Amino acid sequence: MPVLVELRGVSKHYRRADTGETVVAVEDVSLDVHQGEVLGVIGYSGAGKSTLVRLVNALELPSSGSVTVAGQELTAIPEKDRRLARRRIGMIFQQFNLFRSRTIAGNVAYPLKVAGVPKAERDRRVAELLDFVGLLDRAYAYPEQLSGGQKQRVGIARALAASPDLLLADEATSALDPETTSEVLALLRRVNRELGVTIIVITHEMDAVRQIADRVAVMEQGRVVEVGDVYDVFSTPQTDAAQRFVRTALHDRPSPETLARLRERHPGRLVTVQITDEAGLQNRIDAAFRAAGVTAELVYGGVGEIRERRIGSLTYELSASSPTGIDDAIDALRNTGVTTDEEAAA
Ligand SMILES: Nc1ncnc2c1ncn2[C@@H]1O[C@H](COP(=O)(O)OP(=O)(O)OP(=O)(O)O)[C@@H](O)[C@H]1O
Ligand SMILES: [Mg+2]
Repeated sequence: MPVLVELRGVSKHYRRADTGETVVAVEDVSLDVHQGEVLGVIGYSGAGKSTLVRLVNALELPSSGSVTVAGQELTAIPEKDRRLARRRIGMIFQQFNLFRSRTIAGNVAYPLKVAGVPKAERDRRVAELLDFVGLLDRAYAYPEQLSGGQKQRVGIARALAASPDLLLADEATSALDPETTSEVLALLRRVNRELGVTIIVITHEMDAVRQIADRVAVMEQGRVVEVGDVYDVFSTPQTDAAQRFVRTALHDRPSPETLARLRERHPGRLVTVQITDEAGLQNRIDAAFRAAGVTAELVYGGVGEIRERRIGSLTYELSASSPTGIDDAIDALRNTGVTTDEEAAA
């Protein structure tokens, strides 16, 4: 897939006004954002996510490195050209940033007005955008008359007004409840799929990444420590940071407390099997148990999907009549490529 955004060795250091100390906000980030994808960027507070966004739309210039968007190296052109380039980039925010004194239609029309689009064309475009986000009937309402989710829909319509190639969403759902969050993420997904807009979603919630992103970049202390397809990062996270985030969004694995409780009720050995989207997996698990003469009782787990691929884990209590039966079953599972956690040993 062609690359829309290319970051090469990008660092951003600030000098703290009070102490004169250097703050490393972004450190040596090289990252490609592909045309047409939704990239999630996840990290804890202070990881450098918002700084990264401001570097991508060239609201700030890096201390070193280059930022290229749609073939234009934003770090190498005059500010007036950067200003034009920025019009091709839409942005939505946690606090919506709507004009309170303007109607919904007025808010969406604003960037078109600034760009000098004639009134008739503006009106047509605003109606089209409000229809797309499902708020045509609220065109003459004011922001304060809308719910948070509706306000963010207006924010999305406004960000799309100038038909950007790229949409940046910085914690756009962090002020919303889970249900409204899902609705807004579903709308962003439509923006991506139906309008072909590339989206960078900045978030500290792995569940949002799970719902919307094709790929995810994990940030820690200014660096991108892991990047990959969302499914791969969820099924085989490579770094501690990614593992911690994945755990917050997958609830199919027993926590240490749950495991302790399970163990009180289940005297047999507890084994957790990781479920992937490999065909025939269930058969291989069953066959391994059968061949070793093991009785398996399902005690915990869940199977869901990410990007239409199966993912999950199942925890079994294993009992065997022969002393080596369970080890044989676990070996057989591992030999067929099934990943198990011998929770009892953990
Ligand atoms: N203008 C600035 N001047 C000085 N330090 C800054 C500035 N902007 C950001 N920083 C520092 O850079 C680091 C990264 O900040 P940033 O806002 O990018 O993090 P974030 O990942 O967006 O965090 P959050 O999840 O809280 O929004 C922080 O230590 C922050 O204090
Ligand atoms: Mg931020």
